[in-house]
Amino acid sequence: MAKLIDGKAIREFNLDKIASEVAQLKEKGVEPALAVIIVGSDPASRVYVNNKKTACERVGMRSLEFAMPEETTTEELLALIDKLNADASVSGILCQLPVPKHIDKNAVLRRIRPEKDVDCFHPENVGLLSTGMGKLMPCTPMGMMKMLEYEGIDPAGKHCVIIGRSDIVGKPMAMLMLSKSATVTICHSKTADLPSITRQADILVAAVGIPNFVTEDMVGEGAIVLDVGINRLESGKLCGDVDFEAVKEKASMITPVPGGVGPMTIAMLMQNTLTACKEQNNILM
Ligand code: GUN
Repeated sequence: MAKLIDGKAIREFNLDKIASEVAQLKEKGVEPALAVIIVGSDPASRVYVNNKKTACERVGMRSLEFAMPEETTTEELLALIDKLNADASVSGILCQLPVPKHIDKNAVLRRIRPEKDVDCFHPENVGLLSTGMGKLMPCTPMGMMKMLEYEGIDPAGKHCVIIGRSDIVGKPMAMLMLSKSATVTICHSKTADLPSITRQADILVAAVGIPNFVTEDMVGEGAIVLDVGINRLESGKLCGDVDFEAVKEKASMITPVPGGVGPMTIAMLMQNTLTACKEQNNILM
């Protein structure tokens, strides 16, 4: 049976380190601050934004929330971003996704100054990530790298197979894995004979958004399985992209859902806000 990778414990470990750095910054008179914008009233987004606020309190950062009505225009949203970009007391800016359909999402993501782009969604930051020159890191993929580091797993020379090619998880995860000298394969909905590829993985990352998509026959003996999925079943229960009960018998390590990759995302958002603040104030610690 696989060892469980405990996302909550690793989150706490990382948040403790971040909190102590925030305290040191405050002694120097510098206070990191995260501005979170939420447009409309999507209930899941509301939960995520509340969790981000709680995480800011946990590490001693200032948080600012801008809740805008559903009918907000792209121009109004861009004007708010311009104001926050120009505000030196704001270290990081995040616009919670999804935004309502009438809003030009790409224009919004491009408008956040790259130095304050704590989601690492701006094309400039995506480019910096791929060249290894980035300071801000994509939160969910970075969270998974931190989990592996905590468990003492070095990706160098390992075959990492990623199922899912999203801009938020699959693609940036491939870049982070490459930067650690893993051999990387990205699979997606058009991949032929997916199980024959996923079975070769030393590290298997499931980021497809389909409950129980990864079945036991798709996993090689002893693989490390990281499950990014957060799917809500009709029963209201949360479930990942991996058939956890069956796969845990075959894997050597596995992340549960809930309590696995999810908790790490917010910890990395705090890390990025701290990094952004230090960069903006030319502070080396
Ligand atoms: N919605 C779901 N996940 C995310 C995320 O990581 N960042 C933002 N901005 N919105 C999200």
